[in-house]
Amino acid sequence: MASRVIPVETFDLVIFGGTGDLAQRKILPGLYRRFCAGQMPRDARIIGASRSQFDDAGYQEFVREAVLKYVNKNKIDTDNLDAFINQLRYIAIDARGENGWKDLAKLVRSDAITAYYFSVGPGLFGDIAERLHKYKIADEDARIVVEKPFGRDLETAQALNAVLAKNFNEEQIYRIDHYLGKETVQNLMAVRFGNILFEPLWNAQYVDHIQITVAETVGVGGRGGYYDKSGAMRDMIQNHLMQLLCLIAMEPPSHFDPNAVRDEKLKVIRALDPIQPENIVRGQYSADGDEKSYIEDSENPDTITESFVALKAQISNWRWSGTPFYLRTGKRLRARMSEIVVVFKDPPHSIFDVQENRRPNELVIRLQPDEGIVMRVTIKEPGPGGMRLMDVPLDMSFAETLGEDSADIPDAYERLIMDVIRGNQTLFMRGDEVEAAWRWTDPIIEAWQEKGSRPAQYDTGGSGPEDALMLLHREGRRWREIKA
Ligand code: BG6
Repeated sequence: MASRVIPVETFDLVIFGGTGDLAQRKILPGLYRRFCAGQMPRDARIIGASRSQFDDAGYQEFVREAVLKYVNKNKIDTDNLDAFINQLRYIAIDARGENGWKDLAKLVRSDAITAYYFSVGPGLFGDIAERLHKYKIADEDARIVVEKPFGRDLETAQALNAVLAKNFNEEQIYRIDHYLGKETVQNLMAVRFGNILFEPLWNAQYVDHIQITVAETVGVGGRGGYYDKSGAMRDMIQNHLMQLLCLIAMEPPSHFDPNAVRDEKLKVIRALDPIQPENIVRGQYSADGDEKSYIEDSENPDTITESFVALKAQISNWRWSGTPFYLRTGKRLRARMSEIVVVFKDPPHSIFDVQENRRPNELVIRLQPDEGIVMRVTIKEPGPGGMRLMDVPLDMSFAETLGEDSADIPDAYERLIMDVIRGNQTLFMRGDEVEAAWRWTDPIIEAWQEKGSRPAQYDTGGSGPEDALMLLHREGRRWREIKA
């Protein structure tokens, strides 16, 4: 099965922060892979912009190094790499001053699609947006791309939205949440809305509960100072897990178009009940051998920031009233595993006497690793000896089903950058969505800060604090095991 690659129209993509970490690790390697896939036209240009003093040749070498470092060795093709590198330009620019802006204005083509990637701290968004406008660099068709964290609470998010709105329309602003670019996350919409099978059962009448887990094995060492001002709630729940919850819970949009999809997501966020303290658990990982504890990694002995959160959310609408959504995410857990599990209710009446081994039907959507979808169903245990039941997985691993093509699935950043060029905002967050998400998480974080108590400690390599397990146990449910 050969995957179809449709080339995008020619473009000039300016990356502010073009020498930064994100540009090196994700944006530039992603563009290189799209180039190799034939999606990036030969006259498209990538323009690095930052304070460093490079000329074009110096920047090209810098990017070559980044590609060689971050792209899988067997995906490197020297001819392609040379050709890709040729499409790079560089402008030394001062985001807060006037240097470089006139040069940028001259360089950017008026007959190509133009996009400006703000791969810089949010403190510079306003300065850059203003200068793009002042020097008449960005016209009304230009796109700007901004990264998370989009604010640290409702107030700062509103301020950022206001700064951007001064110079750009909402249709020009692409707020990235890279989880929306993950293959299986989009597949979630295909599974829900491309099949008749699931949607009739997708409600409180048939679904017992839903679990969303994003577990990581890494700690925050190296970026502890930054992370300590954020914590799992701001870093993961407010954006990535919230977006997953929206896609699972939303009503079918009338079309697969940006505003139709985002309107439905927004309704979900607005229907979330406030969280009661007994329905949320926080944790900090403890030391393990040579591995430091969260407190040591954050270099803040008094820190009350959480590296783990588990919570029970409820959506007050007709479809989901009474169905809990359990969310958990944490660092230094047993395995890197992200999955969504829809646990269905038991059949209303069992005609079989033997009940052991009976488990409810589950639809497991695995985001990573080993992307795929598994449906657990009950069947008869093979062989004589009467009617005994067992449950088996109907497993659709993308790697197996798609064969070689699965290796060519673009990563989240590649897809999202191409969507920016195509002008498709479906997989980007709208300003009101981000604000609604902060409106829900702000009171939770404020309550923690007021209380000032330290999160529970949990062991590295486990599944988080004991209380997170209790969140489900006390209701006769259990989390799916965290395993690779
Ligand atoms: C980022 C968070 O947005 O997502 C990180 O800031 C986290 O803390 C990362 O590690 C996880 O992304 P992924 O794609 O590796 O699951």
